[in-house]
Amino acid sequence: MLHPDVLVIGSGIAGLSYAVKVAQLNPELKITILSKSEPQECNTNYAQGGVAVVTDFTKDSFEKHIKDTLIAGDGLCNEESVRIVVEEGPQRLSELVKWGADFDKNEAGNFDLGMEGGHSENRVVHYKDVTGAEMERTLLAAIKKHPNIELLTHHFVIDIITEHHLPDVPYDKNNISCYGVYALDIKNNTIITIQADITLMATGGAGHVYRNSTNPLVATGDGIGLAYRAKAKISGMQFIQFHPTAFYSNRPGQLFLISEAVRGFGAKLRTKSGEPFMHKYDKREELASRDIVARAIDSEMKISGDDHVMLDCRELDQEKFMEHFPNIYNKCKSEGYDLFKELIPVVPASHYLCGGIDVDQMGQTSIKNLLAVGECTNTGLHGANRLASNSLLEALVYGHRAAERTIELIKKGDFNRQNQDNVPHWNQDGMKMAEEMVLVSLLRKELQTIMSELVSIVRSNQWLELAKKREQEIYDSVQELYNMSILSPQLSELRNLVNIAHLIITQSIEQKENRGAFYNKDLDKEKK
Ligand code: FAD
Ligand code: SIN
Repeated sequence: MLHPDVLVIGSGIAGLSYAVKVAQLNPELKITILSKSEPQECNTNYAQGGVAVVTDFTKDSFEKHIKDTLIAGDGLCNEESVRIVVEEGPQRLSELVKWGADFDKNEAGNFDLGMEGGHSENRVVHYKDVTGAEMERTLLAAIKKHPNIELLTHHFVIDIITEHHLPDVPYDKNNISCYGVYALDIKNNTIITIQADITLMATGGAGHVYRNSTNPLVATGDGIGLAYRAKAKISGMQFIQFHPTAFYSNRPGQLFLISEAVRGFGAKLRTKSGEPFMHKYDKREELASRDIVARAIDSEMKISGDDHVMLDCRELDQEKFMEHFPNIYNKCKSEGYDLFKELIPVVPASHYLCGGIDVDQMGQTSIKNLLAVGECTNTGLHGANRLASNSLLEALVYGHRAAERTIELIKKGDFNRQNQDNVPHWNQDGMKMAEEMVLVSLLRKELQTIMSELVSIVRSNQWLELAKKREQEIYDSVQELYNMSILSPQLSELRNLVNIAHLIITQSIEQKENRGAFYNKDLDKEKK
């Protein structure tokens, strides 16, 4: 049994920046960070475009950034959250720079600011087209400077511990506390108990509930699944952001992203036969917000029957392009496309989860002593659709706030030591080791197919009802497997993905208005 004061689940920007802040505020606290894979294997590491933050106050302003965020969120943002993130953003970014992050500068020595869809000004601070990797590198180096932070990789959290696990403790669903987690030590194949006064959920997104995703394979919505099973409040799951331009490939797994900043730089979308089409959908054309561009592409693909559209970079300034987007150029080249000479195939792919675990302005969830930060949360910042490059900033701002709340909670010391002492070990007696993963991988593929065909960019009442029925069947099969098997990461991920699919489907059925990233074609008909 491990017993840190603070347990962090996730080693992306949310978990790492929070851990550094807690360590700075109180170097006496023992902090343990868990990641289920290699430390850098997370959405953060793949972020390309950058961080949207107001730095050039001669042209830009907080009010403009707030307005752009509210417009993208289509009337469903929490305005207080928007103001907090936008106004506290510059301070959080400058701390990251102090910790060693390098961002591109112009000749005058100011940040070189990129443009992305939905922004009224150039405000995206970036490091070439690999901003996330630079931030992750900085944060992994920063935690090493704190001897009180320990990072355990390849530790897969399978459940958070609440009263539900405690023998002889009455269970009151309105008064639940978190006592730590059970985690599978993947390399040693043992399940360990980790008790902590405060647990932070920072487990990122859920892109792989769909077949095509820009997310790395670790993005299976585990934290939301864990929190949902522990009865935490979860909302906004119907608002899935599809990125318009992932590099088209029929290989399964993660699709390579062609950053929105490439369209910000002037690239144009075309049908497979070479016709421009964005002018038919929005006067901002390629720089309309993501939901609009993704839906336009989806509609063109349905009209033509093609499985992708094309992105045209042939007219762009080659020297400047190579300065800004070397990674994208090289990746396309390695796939056989010289983007200065030919069109590249692109397709929308699931990219970002706007909803998640409900938190207040300090990262507190509805479960006592469980905080949450980053893509797994719903702070209200994004509403129905996230403005490009707002999520890295959100993680920094709420990571800082949750660290402050952690220190307050630890000072207050309102922890139930008797319950902590009674936490039992995970019991797998009588369970069998699954001999092969064929059933698990079949069920995962079936779930992804249902979500991709029926609960995607365009939904309908009938499709959602059918998806609900099919998801329930998959849930029953997964429960049967779970009840008899020794847990594996694959089965745990599947369990979480089924929970995620359930939340997306049921919250989509409850959503009675088309807003932002959510579009049900039947609701449009009812309006007419
Ligand atoms: P992540 O960085 O995904 O970290 C999740 C962590 O949780 C990982 O360490 C993982 O191992 C751990 N974890 C998960 N489940 C478990 C478990 N069961 N047990 C133990 N550990 C677990 N946003 C922007 O603002 N600007 C951009 O330019 C941008 N570009 C993007 C490009 C791509 C290709 C992608 C995929 C996303 C992009 N985003 C961008 C979104 C942004 O990167 C993410 O929202 C953000 O990085 C999420 O950070 P996080 O710390 O919440 O989660
Ligand atoms: C991109 O670079 O297009 C991704 C930006 C984001 O998701 O915020």
